[in-house]
Amino acid sequence: MSESTLDLHALPPEIFLEHVHSFEFWLGSVQGYLAGRPYGHHENLAEPAFDDAERERLVTALCHYCLGETMALEGAGGLIRIAPNRPCKIFLATQTVDEGRHLEVLVHRLSELGVADPQREIEERASPALRRFRERLLAFVATGDWEAALFAQNVILEAAEFAVFHRHARSADPITRELLLGIIKDERRHIGFGENELGRRLSHRPELRQPLFAVRRELDPLVLDSFAQTLARLGTPASERAELGRDYLAAVGRLGIA
Ligand SMILES: [Fe+2]
Ligand SMILES: [Fe+2]
Repeated sequence: MSESTLDLHALPPEIFLEHVHSFEFWLGSVQGYLAGRPYGHHENLAEPAFDDAERERLVTALCHYCLGETMALEGAGGLIRIAPNRPCKIFLATQTVDEGRHLEVLVHRLSELGVADPQREIEERASPALRRFRERLLAFVATGDWEAALFAQNVILEAAEFAVFHRHARSADPITRELLLGIIKDERRHIGFGENELGRRLSHRPELRQPLFAVRRELDPLVLDSFAQTLARLGTPASERAELGRDYLAAVGRLGIA
């Protein structure tokens, strides 16, 4: 049945969830955000005339986003193995494709800005807190603890990316803004999956709240340190850094793990 003839809201809840987390749904309505645009943006958008300092700041920000998307790609791919059922595995396969595409378009953006060796720049510029976050995220995935790893990946990391991309898109040049707005649409879907899956589990097993809170206690400071380290290098005023932290805490707190 095509998306146009299928009344999603008439479906029983379990079937609805399986459908919106399927490749069938992804192919029909989601993947178009980035696929219709070569490397994530329309070709007719003009490159702004950056001065050296502006270009440097944008390159530094993009290098952090590339590391974030690299860990999301590794995390989502790793979660497939430990996901408890087929619909979750299939959703994570769609997410893994999304994260690979996000990384690809962001690395391409670095090339458009004249970065000759994006991988080296990413490694040189990434903040220590973000590197540490990657180690801890992948360690949670490696433990095989589905709830903790999904919380770290699809709630904490996704909420952090969502907050940063959303705020940056407001002031970004037109090309970067179009990339970020496309990526944000996918990140919304990823965080929605994490909240839904964990919310249903928490409603049956409230004792999960404590171990998930322990994950937050460990990872929240790394997210906030990463914001602080990166934004300081970007010359962002302290008031804006505090606002970004609040955006993140609001997004990550929607599950009520506090
Ligand atoms: Fe992503
Ligand atoms: Fe994501």
